[in-house]
Order: sequence, then structure tokens, then C-alpha cells
Amino acid sequence: MKKVTASAPGKLLLFGDHAVVYGHPCIVTAIDQRLSAIVELRGDNLFTVNAVDLKVVAYQKSIATVGQGEIPKAVQFLETILEQFLLQHPQKTGITVSTQSDFSSQFGFGSSSAVSVAFAKALYAAFGTDATKEDLFKLVYQSILKVQKVGSGFDVAAAIWGGTLYYVTPAKVVEKISITSLPLAVGYTGLKVSTAKIVQEVAVARTKDLTRIDGLFQRSTEIVEQARAALEAANWSEVGHLMNQNQTLLAELGVSSPELYRLIEAAKKAGAYGAKLSGAGKGDCMIAVVEAAQKNQVEAAINQTGGQALSVQPNAEGVRIEKE
Ligand code: PMV
Repeated sequence: MKKVTASAPGKLLLFGDHAVVYGHPCIVTAIDQRLSAIVELRGDNLFTVNAVDLKVVAYQKSIATVGQGEIPKAVQFLETILEQFLLQHPQKTGITVSTQSDFSSQFGFGSSSAVSVAFAKALYAAFGTDATKEDLFKLVYQSILKVQKVGSGFDVAAAIWGGTLYYVTPAKVVEKISITSLPLAVGYTGLKVSTAKIVQEVAVARTKDLTRIDGLFQRSTEIVEQARAALEAANWSEVGHLMNQNQTLLAELGVSSPELYRLIEAAKKAGAYGAKLSGAGKGDCMIAVVEAAQKNQVEAAINQTGGQALSVQPNAEGVRIEKE
């Protein structure tokens, strides 16, 4: 029976957090922490999932009932992708999906989008159906929106295209930013907060004070445009300076937190050019731009301030078939 393994990278949002939901650009980088999905065609008509990381073992139903009935949270993304795929490419053959992760879903590195993209890629390949990057994006993004209701899809784009991207939702603009390196330190706050909840809070704040919030998003666009040029020029002190400005803006938006603030200030004090939260905010990770010579110091400062320094390389390759 045909068996395909695909892997896709997680991500870090470098600039433009939240503003990207409202049509403004962001800059996202794919990271070297990957998620894999193995899809195996079966001799029967069952859909089976084994995702040890998600604590799912031998979830099973008939392929004809995919998308129907009560779907456990842990398999919602996978089952919705299969449901959408089957609507376009009806099949009677069952499949087994197994997933594996390099990283914990706690960190906010985009495990849902990476596993979804790896699964979609392996699914197309297992059934011998051609799919462009745009086809993959459409399938995964519509499935994620169906489950999660909100999201710009920047994480899906990073998992598909890889590298470092200038992105406008929903993949209206996806442009690779040509960089050879990006010296980053990453610190985890230890706090897991719901992205959907924070995105919702920002939406409520925006309805109450449209002019002020849209002014912040306009400023975010200016920072993103300058950051793109600074990244291309490998001008790290300028990239750091722009991260500081982006962080100030995100704090004004109300999505920072004392934990993020402590790690960001500690990283800057220890020699980083600049630092900011990455993603929805309140918890998850902060990032800092730091020369190699200061990286150990900055990571030690993050660890001493109650955070956890994580070893992450940016600008990683997008989704790929590992084995067929
Ligand atoms: O919390 P994360 O890492 O999934 O990032 C969310 C980024 C937002 O801009 C707040 C939302 C989005 O979908 O773009």
C-alpha cells in the first residue's frame, strides 16, 4: 500500500503581528523545528489517526463519515482537511495518518499549521493528485478557518513556502525576502494563551476605538516595509531597532504582558539590538536580534529572568516530501 511522509516547518512572526489580520503586511520566518505526517493508503475504507504528541491513538471512523458527528479537538484539523480534500477529490480508499513533532505545541511555533500542511501535502501525494503551493494553501487555510474561525494564514504560508516571507492575507502577496542569515535568540515565557481569544480581544478594542487602533496598524505597515529593507541589507542593528518599535506598538495595542516585558528588557540589557513578542502576545515566545558574540549572554539573561531560551534557526525550508 502506498505510504508517503511529508514534513513542514514551524514559524516565528518577525514583524506585523495582529495588523496582518486586518490586511496589513507581516514578515514571517520558517524555523528548523518541523512536524511530519505519514499517510498510508489502506485496504479498507477506514480513516485512522495515530498522533502520539496529540495523545490520539487509533482514532477511527469510516471515510464516508469524515466530517460528521462529534470530532475530538485533537483531530479536528486533520479531519477537516481530509473532509475538504474529499469534497474536491472523492475517494473510497481508507487512510492511516500518523504525526510526529520536533517541538512542543506549547511554544506557539505553529504546530497546527505545520501538521496541517504536512498532512495535506502527503495526502495529495498518496492519492497521486497534483497540487500547487496555492492549492495547498487554499485547502489548508479554508480548513483552519473552519475549525478556528480566525487567522491570517501567515503560519500556513510559512509552512508551505518556507524561508522568510513578506505576507498579505490570504496569501494575496507571498514574497520571499532574500536573506542568508538572521541572528535571533528566542525565549519562551512559559505561558500558553489562546491566539483566538487575543485576536478577539483586539477586534473588540478596535470596534471601540477604530481610529487609534487603525493608526497603530498603519504604523505597523511602515515598520514592516522598513524591516524588509533592513533584513535584505543584513542591517541587524536597524532590524533590532524596528523590533523595539513594533513591540512598543503591540504594547499599546494591549497584547504584551509583564512576562514578555521582563524577557524583552533582559535580552536588550544583555546586548540584543532589539526584541519583541512574536505572535498573538500575552505569552508564548519573544524574539531578539543579537550578534553571535552576545548570544550566550542574551540566552543566559532570558533563562535567569524566568524564561526558557530555545535553540531555533530561522529561514528554514518549506513543506517537502521526505519519503515516498
Ligand atoms: O499566536 P500565533 O503565533 O499563532 O500568532 C498569531 C498572529 C496574529 O497576527 C495575532 C493572528 C494571525 O492569524 O495573524
